Amino acid sequence: MRIIVPLQGVVQGRGGVFWGSVIPCGLFYLLQLYIRQRRPNSSEDGEGEAGQAAPPSAGGDSPYYIGWREYYQDPYHATENPDGVIQLGLAENTLSLDLLQDWLKNHPEASLWNEGEHLKLMDVAPYQYSHGMPALKSVLSNFLENLVERSMPFNADNIVLTAGATAALEILAFCLGEAGDAFLVPSPYYPGFDRDIKWRSGIQLVPVYCPSSKGFMITRTALEKAYNQTQRRGITVRAILITTPGNPVGNILDAETISSVLNFAKAKGIHVISDEIYAASVFRGKFVSASQVLAAGDYDSGFVHIVYGLSKDFGIPGFRVGLLYTKNEKILAAAQNFTRFCTVSSHTQRLLVYLLDDKDFVGKFLEENRRRLYNRYDSVLKGLQIAEMNCAESSGGLYCWVDLRHLLASASQEAESNLWKKLLYEVKLNLTPGSACHYPEAGWFRLCFANVDEQTLNVALKRLHVFTEGMRK
Ligand SMILES: Cc1ncc(COP(=O)(O)O)c(C=O)c1O
Repeated sequence: MRIIVPLQGVVQGRGGVFWGSVIPCGLFYLLQLYIRQRRPNSSEDGEGEAGQAAPPSAGGDSPYYIGWREYYQDPYHATENPDGVIQLGLAENTLSLDLLQDWLKNHPEASLWNEGEHLKLMDVAPYQYSHGMPALKSVLSNFLENLVERSMPFNADNIVLTAGATAALEILAFCLGEAGDAFLVPSPYYPGFDRDIKWRSGIQLVPVYCPSSKGFMITRTALEKAYNQTQRRGITVRAILITTPGNPVGNILDAETISSVLNFAKAKGIHVISDEIYAASVFRGKFVSASQVLAAGDYDSGFVHIVYGLSKDFGIPGFRVGLLYTKNEKILAAAQNFTRFCTVSSHTQRLLVYLLDDKDFVGKFLEENRRRLYNRYDSVLKGLQIAEMNCAESSGGLYCWVDLRHLLASASQEAESNLWKKLLYEVKLNLTPGSACHYPEAGWFRLCFANVDEQTLNVALKRLHVFTEGMRK
């Protein structure tokens, strides 16, 4: 009642108490309405308003996480649960773990504590630089040079080691913008970006539509459109986040496309983040790093930042090893401080020094891994063809981007959601629908193929075949 007292002086007489209550309430409501309308749209994964990080609920309500939950509650097993859900929604690579296992068996000095052997407790027990041991940065810089076929140098001092690529991306989000600012992200994009980049930093992600008719490639026109629309909403665009090879499509960005992105960013004075976590999982064509394009052109190197990690190419996401490579001194210094919260265990770092220093093994491992990935991709394509389905052309990654538009009741997000539900709850396959990747063209689904064994994959493909047969009847 205290709030209305001043107005009671204005609204006199018998209605004083009534109008003195109604007017402030009405004004307050109108103010709320005004603020709400000026706020940018929130997205389907439960993102909060601009300037506010979304609550880290158990993965959010994106179909990406719902599918995982269904899988964990009823996981397929060939003999114990043959009608369970098959997990095709997780970009994990277990195809070459046997090779790593053999290497570890043959190199006990890398991970065992034997006194007198290479690994000593005193080498790993004390505090280390949180942004990575110099010895690991040194072998990593060499590894990065090999990824680009030694076409350019990588300076170990510009590497910031992080607990997974996720942490490197989040650090960049904190460094490049304020809560409420935006990054442009070509869509379809990896559904985890919403969680990893937005939740704590409050940075918003604005999808930049890459049409299937253009091979899912980013165009300058689409970038301009997304940039202008975002600025018009009063939101400051700070960076473009590209991924090559892409997730979920698996396409590699050629030098021309990357340079058009860099030119666009230069014209707008914004940063470029290039997520190259699948760089060594390219099984067709040639990988081009944004750092190569950067080195070859007239760009400010302080505006381009590379993210990499060992989770995918080595199949060791549990090790939590990622990195940020930046030549921007301010970001480098800030990122080094941020790693206080996401340091990689020194035991893991020490092991990786041994592993990556064995260049002969690493070269053979990556080559064999690429061969296995290609074989998987090829057998998925064949299985899909039997089920009368196709995939977008892919050059790398652990997944393919399946075109199920012909199975939709209509070309709408609702129809896509209905098909996704059928696949998950009836066919018991967890695929990721395009909506989770912020893709506006309904009917595309990501199918991950490197996290299950061959027999399980065949069961999944068979289920798809039976499903399409049933749809035709
Ligand atoms: C494009 C992309 N970036 C980053 C990540 C996260 O990697 P990490 O496990 O190293 O944090 C993933 C994982 O799927 C990814 O696909």
